[in-house]
Amino acid sequence: MRQKLAAGNWKMHGTRASLVEVRALVAAHPDPAVEVLICPPATLLAWMDAEIGQAPIRTGGQDCHAAASGAHTGDIAAAMLADAGASHVILGHSERRADHGEADATVRAKTEAAHAADLTAIVCVGETLAERDAGRTLDVVSGQLAGSLPDGARGRNTVVAYEPVWAIGTGRTPTEAQIAEVHAHIRAELRARFGAAEAERFRLLYGGSVKPANAAGIFAIAEVDGALVGGASLKAADFSAIISALEQAPAPG
Ligand code: 13P
Repeated sequence: MRQKLAAGNWKMHGTRASLVEVRALVAAHPDPAVEVLICPPATLLAWMDAEIGQAPIRTGGQDCHAAASGAHTGDIAAAMLADAGASHVILGHSERRADHGEADATVRAKTEAAHAADLTAIVCVGETLAERDAGRTLDVVSGQLAGSLPDGARGRNTVVAYEPVWAIGTGRTPTEAQIAEVHAHIRAELRARFGAAEAERFRLLYGGSVKPANAAGIFAIAEVDGALVGGASLKAADFSAIISALEQAPAPG
């Protein structure tokens, strides 16, 4: 059975003062029934790791370079994230695809680098509003999956996050039927590529304006194994409510 995952993406938010939120989260969830992950800015990783101590909350990066090391000013290697305490890394987020022109092939190379450093890759896919309006959502997601997932991807080292670009930071969310359709499609694509048994091991997250108020409804949708949460992960009270909703959600397949 897949372990449910509540993942927070702090994006470019947070300084050491924000560690107070982590302290509150650890206190509120000393023994979470789901996997809990926070992906802070890289500057906070080691501090956060120290703050968390032995508590069962994981940390992750928000990006890594495809190379193991080298002359890449400003970039961070996967092994460096692991060295700072990370167990996961978000890759191919739509903000990186848009802000840094990351193509599927780049995301795929980064995912391979993450796996080589024993990090779990959270690979993001999702359509823009124009693509949805044009009826191209499933095609776009298929293309992103085919291009971004390496052949070595497995359920134990890879999570897929469906994040419709138009739902990120907007307060808009897809209907439950729309989320269910895309998640079922992702599962079918994984089945076709990696085989039926392996496909069942990949966790599928929904991301885009997940809040305490809508979390339970989203977590009740088939094939939703958790969430990738942006804004609502910055405040312990909000993220805690989302974690609790996931703990109470029906068990994934
Ligand atoms: P919001 O939850 O702020 O919409 O962000 C979602 C997201 O992009 C998580 O990676």
